[in-house]
Amino acid sequence: MIHVAENHKGQIVGYVLAKMEEDATPAHGHITSLAVLRTHRKCGIATQLMRQAHARMQESFGAEYCSLHVRYTNVAAIHLYTQTLGYKVMDVEKGYYADGEDAYSMRVDFEKPKPETKKKASKAVKAQANVAEVTEAVKNVDLNAAAPEAAAPAAEEDPATATA
Ligand SMILES: CC(C)(COP(=O)(O)OP(=O)(O)OC[C@H]1O[C@@H](n2cnc3c(N)ncnc32)[C@H](O)[C@@H]1OP(=O)(O)O)[C@@H](O)C(=O)NCCC(=O)NCCS
Repeated sequence: MIHVAENHKGQIVGYVLAKMEEDATPAHGHITSLAVLRTHRKCGIATQLMRQAHARMQESFGAEYCSLHVRYTNVAAIHLYTQTLGYKVMDVEKGYYADGEDAYSMRVDFEKPKPETKKKASKAVKAQANVAEVTEAVKNVDLNAAAPEAAAPAAEEDPATATA
């Protein structure tokens, strides 16, 4: 699953890449990568992208929780995950990253859906079992800031840093 945020020119200014863990019980999602273009940070874009990904996991695939890894020193991302989105630290994984930095392993539990939502979710899982990738523009994001020259946020990031 990939969700992107676009500016008024249709340029991508942020993305979140997420997946469902195959054959996992209970069903749960994992955030693979998240980044917002430097010029568009602190506008709530990452928060919206993450909420979209959570909703997709839960409503379409019946996920009960979402997990991720984050660098021990990534203050911005740790704030986003723990303070804004309610993630809890489950573990510290020593030397998780290629450069030897430790990772926090985190997880947020989704609220249990009401029975009728659950029914819809299981139908959706069947209907979308073969969907490998979903691209969805994030709506209602305030992108009034000046449009950046570079369209792809990942390009200016150290991939290791952007990888969740
Ligand atoms: C981490 C990142 C995705 C946050 O994106 P963003 O769009 O700026 O985040 P938001 O605007 O949604 O902010 C979410 C919260 O984090 C806080 N925050 C954002 N940047 C921060 C920073 N540098 N220091 C402290 N807090 C920060 C915001 O104030 C906000 O807090 P609030 O909800 O209490 O008001 C962005 O900084 C980024 O792309 N970093 C490089 C790639 C990366 O580290 N990805 C994560 C890999 S795990």
